[in-house]
Formats: sequence, C-alpha cells, structure tokens
Amino acid sequence: MFRRSLTTFLRSSKSLNDFESIQRFAHSLPTGKPPKILITGGLGQLGTECAKLLRSQYGRENVILSDIIKPSQEIVDSGPYIFADILDFKGLQKIVVDHRVDWLIHFSALLSAIGEQNVPLAVRVNIEGVHNVIELAKQYNLRIFVPSTIGAFGPDSPRRPTPNVTVQRPRTIYGVSKVHAELMGEYYHHKFGLDFRCLRFPGVISSDPPGGGTTDYAVAIFHNVLRNGKYTCYLRPDTLLPMMYIEDCLRALLEFMCAPAESLKRRVYNVTAMSFTPEDLVEKLRKYVPELHVTYNPDSRQLIADSWPQIFDDSEARADWNWNHKYDLEKLVDLMVKDVQENYINPEKNRIIAKA
Ligand SMILES: NC(=O)c1ccc[n+]([C@@H]2O[C@H](COP(=O)([O-])OP(=O)(O)OC[C@H]3O[C@@H](n4cnc5c(N)ncnc54)[C@H](O)[C@@H]3O)[C@@H](O)[C@H]2O)c1
Repeated sequence: MFRRSLTTFLRSSKSLNDFESIQRFAHSLPTGKPPKILITGGLGQLGTECAKLLRSQYGRENVILSDIIKPSQEIVDSGPYIFADILDFKGLQKIVVDHRVDWLIHFSALLSAIGEQNVPLAVRVNIEGVHNVIELAKQYNLRIFVPSTIGAFGPDSPRRPTPNVTVQRPRTIYGVSKVHAELMGEYYHHKFGLDFRCLRFPGVISSDPPGGGTTDYAVAIFHNVLRNGKYTCYLRPDTLLPMMYIEDCLRALLEFMCAPAESLKRRVYNVTAMSFTPEDLVEKLRKYVPELHVTYNPDSRQLIADSWPQIFDDSEARADWNWNHKYDLEKLVDLMVKDVQENYINPEKNRIIAKA
C-alpha cells in the first residue's frame, strides 16, 4: 500500500530538501559506491517514507523495499520492491547474495497492541525474525539497523526521565522482544564485530495509518477530528508519552547509520523530540478545529502506556553523534493537519489541483 498521495510526496520531497544538512553525512562504502540497502517490513508506517529518504541519498535502484504484502502499483513504480519473509532464512540469504546488499534496515515487527493479541506470532516475527536478520548480517558482513522503542522499558524503569541505560523489565511481548533484539545485537557486536545499530524510537507520528501501537491515538485523532470533529481517545487525557514526527525519526536513522563507528560509544541509543499528553494535543488541535469534541474511554492500552517512559532522555545520542530534533508539538500539529487534510480529507480536490 503506497498510502500517500502526490501532494504529500511533493511536500515530503520538499521537506527532504531540508535534509540538505544530511548531505554531509551521506556515506559511501570504501569502494566509493553508495550502499545497497534492503528494508524489511517496508510497507508499514515507517518503510515507504524511509525508502523515499534513502533513495534521495543513494539512488532509486540502491534501495530495495520488501514485505510480505502485495504492493500497490505506486509502490512498484517508485523503485525496487520484492517479497521477503523474515522467517525464511534461505530466502533472505538469496536476496542478499542476488542483490549484493550492504545495509539491512529491519522494520518487520508486530507492534505493542497487536502483539498482545497474538503472542505466538509476535514471538516468531519479533524474536525468530531478529535472530534471522542478525545472523544474516553477520554471515554477509552487513551494517544492520533494528529499531527499538520506549516499549522496551517497564514499570520498574525510571519514567521521568528514562536514561539510556537503566532497568528494563517490559510487560508486553513487544517490549520483551525488543530488549531481546537490543541484547542480541550488542552481543553479536562484541563477539563477532557485527556493525549493529539500534535506536529506541518514541511514538512516531505521520499521516499514514500506524500499525497497531499504543501511541496510535496521536495519529488517529487527526483523521477523526478533521473528518467529523470528534474522537474517542483510548488513553486518559493526562497520559504523558514521548513522541516524534516521522521526518525527525527517519533523519535520526540516516544520520545514525552514517555516523563513524568511532563516535558511537554504544550500539543502542534513546532518541526523542518531545513529550505530550492527549489533552496537550487536543489544545493545539483546537486552533484548527475550535468546536472539536474529544471524549476519553481508556482500554487495555492504558496499562501499557502507564508502564512506559514519560520523558525520554536522549542526551547520549545528542552528545555522541549530534542528534537534534527539528519538530516540536506546534510544528507537528501544523504539518499533520495539512497532510491529513490534503491526502485523506480532500484527496479529490488535490487530484484536480495536481492535474491543473
Ligand atoms: N511506528 C512507531 O511509532 C514505532 C515506534 C518505535 C519503534 N518502531 C519500530 O519501527 C519498526 C517499523 O514500525 P512500523 O510502525 O512501520 O510498523 P508496521 O506495523 O506499520 O509495519 C510492520 C511491517 O512488518 C511486516 N511484516 C510482518 N510480518 C512479516 C514477516 N514475516 N516478514 C516480513 N515482513 C513482515 C508487516 O507486513 C508490516 O508491513 C518496527 O520494528 C517497530 O517496532 C515503530
């Protein structure tokens, strides 16, 4: 599913120009060639936008998007797309060999709320899948990125702020599998020299529908309020969680992948941009929809949110490889209102404008 329209693509492309500063990070291999990159789980919330950013840096043909989902025509037209099931180790080996892959961006996962609904599948995808890609990266000497999450912390962790290294005793299978991924990657790094890189992302906000996480309300609220002025939030109004706009998230990924190994004091870093509550977001949205009506009906996701960090301490990423966010709550709301309106509420109108 290529879920974004031309308008968003143009806006994103324009904002990708804001990534000029990234040029200095743009990294080539010792051969002088750009890296060949495989993205797994590429048709989720982060994958297609990540492919766009990496293709803008390294060329369309050097970034291969993959998933187990049938792609739309738009996806196929936008660059290389292949089937890759992360549970099929031999299939992954063939892809790496046939396409001479250098970097692996591993996005396949079952997120927090979905994982709780199907624990055996989450164990397979999130744990067995990670074993496969880490072993694959070791065998073929790949640089590998595996995202972790604020969900890798639990009720025993300090929440305001949550430092880079602290107690991690998550209570979801998603969190348990992410701690496992962090430890496996660090172990392979120390034991075999694997170039494993991992960022713990907060809730990532983009206009694309998210994949079943606990922070999804911060996307759904825009779609609902802009369409019919109403939203029922599944978290309490005062639930403080760390968040980040998708462009910051993907820029962090690229800058981190390009950071010289000597600058990395560790292989797993917290990154974030802001923390806010549902009521903070509603207040900002009221500027655009003054008559909006939001009610609160907490469900099982409240328990998950209550065990997660409230303020995420990413000072180590800022110190070691100069991580810096660009989007605060004000800018995020402004961009999301425009994105959702242009691409989901008024797509017809935009098609006419685009044709004109
Ligand atoms: N979106 C966020 O807010 C957020 C926050 C923190 C971390 N992350 C991490 O970033 C990564 C990407 O997140 P997302 O929001 O794009 O997830 P998503 O749920 O939107 O997408 C995950 C993709 O994985 C694919 N997948 C499932 N089983 C697979 C298999 N066997 N083989 C190959 N692919 C398979 C799915 O088809 C889906 O397209 C995940 O690892 C997630 O844990 C996301």
